[in-house]
Amino acid sequence: GEQTLVNRTVGKLVSLREELKHKPLSGTLGIGHTRWATHGRPSEENAHPHTAGPVTVVHNGIVENHLSLRASLEARGHVFTSETDTEIFSHCIREKLDAGLDLTAAVRSILNDIEGSYAIAVISSTEPDKIVVAKNASPLVIGLGDGETFLASDIPALLHHTRDFIYLHEQEMAVVTADGVELSTIDGEVFERAPKHITWTPSQAEKGGYKHFMLKEIHEQPRAMVDTLRGRISLETGDVHLEDVTLDDARVKAIDRIYLCACGTAWHAGLVGKRFIEQWARIPVEVDLASEFRYRDPLVTENSLFIAVSQSGETADTLAALKEAKRRGARVLSVCNVMESSIARESDDIVYTHAGPEIGVASTKAFMTQMLALNLVALFLGRRRGTATAGAVTHALSQLSQLPGLVEHILTDSTDVERIARKYVAARDFLYLGRGENYPIALEGAVKLKEISYIHAEGYAAGEMKHGPIALIDEDMPVVVISPQGSHYDKTSSNLQEVMARQGRVIGVATEGDSDL
Ligand code: F6R
Repeated sequence: GEQTLVNRTVGKLVSLREELKHKPLSGTLGIGHTRWATHGRPSEENAHPHTAGPVTVVHNGIVENHLSLRASLEARGHVFTSETDTEIFSHCIREKLDAGLDLTAAVRSILNDIEGSYAIAVISSTEPDKIVVAKNASPLVIGLGDGETFLASDIPALLHHTRDFIYLHEQEMAVVTADGVELSTIDGEVFERAPKHITWTPSQAEKGGYKHFMLKEIHEQPRAMVDTLRGRISLETGDVHLEDVTLDDARVKAIDRIYLCACGTAWHAGLVGKRFIEQWARIPVEVDLASEFRYRDPLVTENSLFIAVSQSGETADTLAALKEAKRRGARVLSVCNVMESSIARESDDIVYTHAGPEIGVASTKAFMTQMLALNLVALFLGRRRGTATAGAVTHALSQLSQLPGLVEHILTDSTDVERIARKYVAARDFLYLGRGENYPIALEGAVKLKEISYIHAEGYAAGEMKHGPIALIDEDMPVVVISPQGSHYDKTSSNLQEVMARQGRVIGVATEGDSDL
């Protein structure tokens, strides 16, 4: 008979690679997963895959009712070897195989008992030619090759093998073989779905000479911004054309409030977008964290426009907030980077950012293109509602079209940034200050420093500084003051003076050539 070989290690992927040198695996079919510890500490026993009898499973997601499922499996004699929620899958499926079901039927039969999120891949030594997969609220894509088929959570992982993909939707499953896939719902309804050919290229999933993906993606910003604008703006007529927005004029005119929802960096882009939309379209905009919106009984109506902002299009809270708004009758528009993602699929209107795959953990080019896309939405709404004139929009568009070149210019020389980073590398805390549209930029700067450098940082509206954080300022806390020339320049400059007066160290972000600041 066939045999399933398992290799698991703790720590970085490189340790698995080492392990495989000593214990190589051979075969024609395999599954793997890097676990993010939710239930049970990081250990070899808790690492995926999890095996029970002939059944082996990997799982991305969280089973919420795993304790009760585990208790009843244990009562029926199953012996667990890990602390994970995932292990219940292998035992449940094994039980069904023992009862005479084939692998596909066995997987299908247990899914209705699972509460929570999953993308699972299941193999069994009893049917060694197939992988059975199922999806609910965790992403799963299938890549089609020539005599080979691939699975992953995300497209970039497979770009070196194929650019033809089938996306699984909620509560769908697939039987994957070397020759292709058979799709069905978890209730057993068989269906077909044409594969999509992706324009992303394999080189977009490589570091291309950069030290890491984040640096590469920072340098991709000018190109990404050009792609966000491409084909959407007319500098002659001041028209903004959003190809996947089908809102008709009546609906545009009827919008009486906009809810902008997102998480993390995308939420910061939303805070900037609020200013653009209120300025151009004169519609009040509320910006919410998706994890708050979904639980706060929002006052959404049919005349609300709900805008979700998400790079991945898979962020669970953003998706749930969107569904909640939809349920209450709102029209739903999303600003999204990944085609066919869950958020894109659930939306009435989509503005793709076209930033290309984001592989680095920190959102950089995604953030930039989200702000740009929201600016286009603001100009689009302004034109359609008559609150913005063709002349004013033409002017704004010509400025926007210069933006990629300006970003390119900034990125050609990073010596100042590196010098400042070295100077302050030992600081434990940072403050970021800005006003107006630079207030959300200050928030974003602080998040970036925290997640990348593990240095504590807070973003503040510059005008709020005197109402609290000023007490913290001394020579040990560098303060980044974002003060380009523009309407808030004088006000922000006086906040800068307040910092200096307390011996604070200021890192100014200024317009090129501004020697005063
Ligand atoms: C920060 C970062 C996160 C994401 C957030 C939303 O650098 O990457 O804060 O912005 O998790 O993700 P998306 O945009 O995929 O919904």
